Amino acid sequence: VLAEKGNHRHFMEKEIHEQPEVMGRTVSHYVDAFENSVHEIAGLDFRAASRLIIVGCGTAAYAGEISRYWFGSLARLAVEVDIASEFRYRDPVFLPGDIALFISQSGETADTLEAMRLAAAAGVQTLALVNTPHSTIAREASLVVPTLAGPEIGVASTKAFTSQLSALACLAVLAGRHRGHLDRAQEAGHVASLLASPGLMVKALEREGEIEQLAHEIAGHPTVLYLGRNQNFPLALEAALKLKEISYIHAEGYAAGELKHGPIALIEEGLPVIVIAPHDALFDKTRSSIQQVASRGAHVIAITDPEGARALEGEAARIITLPKGSQLTNPLLFASAVQLLAYHVAVYKGTDVDQPRNLAKSVTVE
Ligand code: AGP
Repeated sequence: VLAEKGNHRHFMEKEIHEQPEVMGRTVSHYVDAFENSVHEIAGLDFRAASRLIIVGCGTAAYAGEISRYWFGSLARLAVEVDIASEFRYRDPVFLPGDIALFISQSGETADTLEAMRLAAAAGVQTLALVNTPHSTIAREASLVVPTLAGPEIGVASTKAFTSQLSALACLAVLAGRHRGHLDRAQEAGHVASLLASPGLMVKALEREGEIEQLAHEIAGHPTVLYLGRNQNFPLALEAALKLKEISYIHAEGYAAGELKHGPIALIEEGLPVIVIAPHDALFDKTRSSIQQVASRGAHVIAITDPEGARALEGEAARIITLPKGSQLTNPLLFASAVQLLAYHVAVYKGTDVDQPRNLAKSVTVE
């Protein structure tokens, strides 16, 4: 692959900064920017779908988990998400009207490919959300829905993730229209927010200097927790994966509402707890989780938006303020902050950011 780092120290840093461009490119592929509507996709009809099965590994699976909230609320479509290595060996149940979507940057991940073959053998329509057009998964799927992230070199997935989310958001809007759950104005509103996401992402990336400072604060800690609710829960899992992969710091993501069911026992003086807290419908619940961990000594870093920042003043030790996004664009914007945090922790620790130990870019064997 011919790829250059340009002025960047690492491919990962370059790929993080390419996100406004690749999100714009991916959204433009799926929408009509004059009509503020999503294009029809030949061969894809969510009207009669009884269920959407989404399968992937790692970051791709987390993108699928986030989209489950969108397909549910925008299209009333039941979604089942699974990691490919579990899906393929659990003798999965297929139902009439199932559509199965396989997400993969490389299009060569062995477990995802085998999971897709299993669904195809059961007669289920297979969609592939892939970044590599000539990959095996793309070739074998009944329908390809592309992400247009361009080659991703860093082992830690960044721009592929946000372009997967961009495409999934468009598909959820399409499903919402197909199933009669979004009217014209609602569809236009969602599409307009997606078209605005590259500009907001540029602003989010301007927080890099502050995030680098925070990265230095947490680099010496052995464990970091990430909390989020609703669609921010899978983003918390992705944030923890990013930190683990490149900084080798133990990190866990939890649904904020699960704290009292166990994880709160981990809280001790000074433990970094990073809370993904946009001022959304569940903000007050997230805020109460912040209060619970802060009162037990956690060092709370809240990633929020201007309204959330005002509310959390004095409650979180550190606040990163991102621009205000929408239901569909928040996970993309908030992804950039957790990516930058992981990146700067790794740089500070001096790890091999683009080629972390023990990891391969594409896992083509089990
Ligand atoms: C992400 O940072 C990882 N390196 C990894 O989880 C990756 O997303 C996973 O292996 C799936 O790869 P794919 O998208 O190429 O199928």
